[in-house]
Amino acid sequence: MPFKTLDDVSDLNGKTALVRVDFNVPVEDGRITDDTRLKVALPTIEKLIAKGAKVALLAHFDRPKGKVVPAMSLKFVAPALAALLGKPVAFADDAVGDKTEAAIKALPAGGVILLENVRFHPGEETNDPEFAAELARLADIYVNDAFSAAHRAHASTEAVARLLPAYAGESMRRELTALDKALGNPERPTLGIVGGSKVSTKLDLLKNLVGSLDALAIGGGMANTFLYAQGHDVGGSLCEKDLKETALEILREAQTKGCHIMLPLDVVVAQDFKANAPHRTQPLSAPLSADDKIFDAGPLTVEALTNVMAGSKTLIWNGPLGVFELPPFDAATVATAKFAAQQTKSGKLVAVAGGGDTVAALNHAGVADDMTFVSTAGGAFLEWMEGKVLPGVAALEQ
Ligand code: 3PG
Repeated sequence: MPFKTLDDVSDLNGKTALVRVDFNVPVEDGRITDDTRLKVALPTIEKLIAKGAKVALLAHFDRPKGKVVPAMSLKFVAPALAALLGKPVAFADDAVGDKTEAAIKALPAGGVILLENVRFHPGEETNDPEFAAELARLADIYVNDAFSAAHRAHASTEAVARLLPAYAGESMRRELTALDKALGNPERPTLGIVGGSKVSTKLDLLKNLVGSLDALAIGGGMANTFLYAQGHDVGGSLCEKDLKETALEILREAQTKGCHIMLPLDVVVAQDFKANAPHRTQPLSAPLSADDKIFDAGPLTVEALTNVMAGSKTLIWNGPLGVFELPPFDAATVATAKFAAQQTKSGKLVAVAGGGDTVAALNHAGVADDMTFVSTAGGAFLEWMEGKVLPGVAALEQ
């Protein structure tokens, strides 16, 4: 590991650890609908408590753009975290300042405090050194446990890491270890699955993956653009026709680099975008009307994909193969996910998945827990798959 972890810290008795976490959780009607991001922070918090540290948790919520927006306060997270942690979590009304400093000082060793949304300060997103110095003043050490915010070069993820002894938290360590196994130093052959609706949002990712993977399956709406580029009829399906040349370029690049591209061999077609809409499964060569839309890959595609997966040692997965939210257009995604889970459980495959939709799709298939690792990150996971340096990770590597 090119950075320090919590195993490198010995006694922290009474010292303060400023811990960057990602508590940007989904909320509906004031209720947290998925507390995964709180749960993944627990091992780091518990480890620091065990070392006698005072734990000051630093996080953002939503995008208040440098202003105090009461509706974007992090206050509601403190009781939810306290319930999971089984001990009180205090709350400070500001991420920095004298009052916050005093509140941290007043904590007992092993005490935990959550600081208000760090994005209420304009210096956060501008990575302002002075604001970072205000953050650094609060603590003796800095721990970054927010891989999912590591693609942002912000004061709480980047600049502050250069002002204090900096460590990767447990979740950050787990993410980076898993990602390295999947794409950095994977066991070959490697297979990628990239789905989702648009090629335009994943161009850099596709270009990076064809340069490093042995095989890549392209699914979801973005596969239509590739099929169209190859001269197939896609009817009224979602398709970025203006990206025809780009798609062909990616296919040529894959051929040059020796990456075997898999596109749908058969498709599930319907006219209405709703669950259980009348549908049919057909080979690519069959005609489509202007009202027909491709909503999923067919069973021949799944068979071809799982055959390649059976011979692969590593899988990296981002994006569903069809409109999995609307059954039966979840079939290809569910069947492929179940096969990946089976291969992983029998020790034949290292399977790493990430990105918002992907996690939802794996949960839908009931196999998220059977993958080797499922990242909690959205944008950071994508940027990492694009081969980019994540500023929050680079700052830890100094
Ligand atoms: C996320 O939810 O992906 C992270 O918390 C980053 O949030 P952001 O896209 O607002 O920077």
